[in-house]
Amino acid sequence: MLSRPSNRPSQPASGTVQGARLSKTSRPPSVERLESVLSSRSQTERLGHVIGALLTGGEVLALIGALGAGKTALVRGIAAGLDVPPESVSSPTFVLAHEYNGRASLIHIDLYRLRTVAEAESIGLDEYLAGSAVVAIEWAERFPEWLPEDRLEVQLTHRSPATRDVLVTAQGPRSSALLTRIARNWRIVQRAPVSLKPARPARRKAPAR
Ligand SMILES: Nc1ncnc2c1ncn2[C@@H]1O[C@H](COP(=O)(O)OP(=O)(O)OP(=O)(O)O)[C@@H](O)[C@H]1O
Ligand SMILES: [Mg+2]
Repeated sequence: MLSRPSNRPSQPASGTVQGARLSKTSRPPSVERLESVLSSRSQTERLGHVIGALLTGGEVLALIGALGAGKTALVRGIAAGLDVPPESVSSPTFVLAHEYNGRASLIHIDLYRLRTVAEAESIGLDEYLAGSAVVAIEWAERFPEWLPEDRLEVQLTHRSPATRDVLVTAQGPRSSALLTRIARNWRIVQRAPVSLKPARPARRKAPAR
């Protein structure tokens, strides 16, 4: 479900005029937040895929959520969207950072074990953030002072053992434009019917003569 801040439900979205019909050339209304319920790990990976497919390099994603909230699952999807084999993605808890090469490089960082700013410096966090790679940071809230002003924030919360709530917000103009596109594509993906049949009927083996 996509929504705008609940304290402003009746206000027009930025870039739109209330009651006016948008022409095909109008800018799409900008989205300020995306909220959704992710009913399985694969659904979380799917959202990650939607995000990853829109990334071009240099974006920073702050991933926030408790242990087991699904941050790494989301990164697996982001990797797939960047054409990195998702099975190569594992939690960087012990090495702190992994780098993957896809359409753009993906740096996957986990700040859970970092205790001090000096330790954050020692892994070269500022260099990663200044570079041209996509940077996805688990436990980003531990070092907020390290985060760039322009960033996408993804907050995952346990709802039940298999379900998570996700809230995506954007800080800064680049991430805001990205969030609008993510929201649009996520809406399309959610509406797409899940096909239970193979796209083509399986070929029968020719009978042995
Ligand atoms: N809807 C869901 N989305 C994501 N993971 C889910 C979901 N439902 C169940 N899970 C399970 O929750 C766990 C999430 O693990 P994951 O490593 O992605 O979490 P994490 O937030 O990265 O944890 P950590 O803080 O330890 O790094 C997995 O075992 C996954 O199968
Ligand atoms: Mg993790």
